[in-house]
Amino acid sequence: MITNNNFVRKSLLFAAISVGMFSLFGCTLGVGTNGESITVYSERHYDTDQILFDNFEDETGIRIDVVDGDADFLINRMQNEGEGTPADVLIIADAGRLHRAQEAGVLRPSESQVLNENIPARYREAEGHWYGLTMRARVLVFDPERVDRSELSTYEALTDEEWEGRIVTRTSANIYNQSLMASFIEIVGEEEALALAEGLAANFARKPSGNDRDQAKYVAAGGADVAIMNTYYMGRMLHSSDPYEREVGESLEVFFPNQETTGTHVNVSGAGVAKHSDNPEDALRFIEFLSGEESQASFANANFEYPLNRNVDKHELLESWGDFKPQEIRLDVLGKHSVRAAELLDEAGWE
Ligand SMILES: [Fe+2]
Repeated sequence: MITNNNFVRKSLLFAAISVGMFSLFGCTLGVGTNGESITVYSERHYDTDQILFDNFEDETGIRIDVVDGDADFLINRMQNEGEGTPADVLIIADAGRLHRAQEAGVLRPSESQVLNENIPARYREAEGHWYGLTMRARVLVFDPERVDRSELSTYEALTDEEWEGRIVTRTSANIYNQSLMASFIEIVGEEEALALAEGLAANFARKPSGNDRDQAKYVAAGGADVAIMNTYYMGRMLHSSDPYEREVGESLEVFFPNQETTGTHVNVSGAGVAKHSDNPEDALRFIEFLSGEESQASFANANFEYPLNRNVDKHELLESWGDFKPQEIRLDVLGKHSVRAAELLDEAGWE
């Protein structure tokens, strides 16, 4: 009996250790209660995303583990981790960066009827390496005390000498301006794109510096009249915890350029399945979930972006700006022109 008791005790102890080890490894490896989980490498860090992830887990039993960091960090990390990467999904902003991820070989193509239905074709990569989930526009933000809305029309019109010393935007090293330039290379060709960059650079109120929000602040402070920047920063400022940012947001207005011509430049935040995901089916299922009607409003509103699923209403702030015509190009061309775009910006003297 004693021997047996010892055996039982030892067995129990072994079982306890095993459970302990399992939980420990379970934790480290990110295995959910039913053993299924996916790891999402994401540039996003919004509290509301957790609610979506919890909904996904409730619906599917698949747990989501998130690793956050900026796009280049995450892409490099996936490259370095190679086949051993825990990443199943990569979520980053800007088609130029999504292209970079694709070129770096960290994404795999995937086919999805759900995504094909939810996301318009021009906002997804042709072979399914990435799918846009939310959209932003790169617009003209102006101070209505110094600029009448009727004076604004196109990006190209800002190259006129009447705008000398009145325009601000960030540097040409920034992907947003490279993608803007890439879109013009695609639509009007290199020569006209270069002329646009030169004309804008000639009218800058200062040497480009700071982020998009800093451009708005510079306009609000009277340093310039028009900022070229992304729409969601207006939303972020208007809902900022900083009273000064709210004041800046309230003093400025949004104008969608090129409405009678080529359309306003737009870009996306999107996601792709990791090349070395060991659970590509669940990874794709998660991206499909984010594109669905139940998720899109929350996912887009977290960053004041436009939902890409047509059946979903946009945030009331975006609604208040009215509808607009976006550029009618496929966004997977932006990355293909990004190197040339950076060269042209440089040639144009856009610092
Ligand atoms: Fe941004």
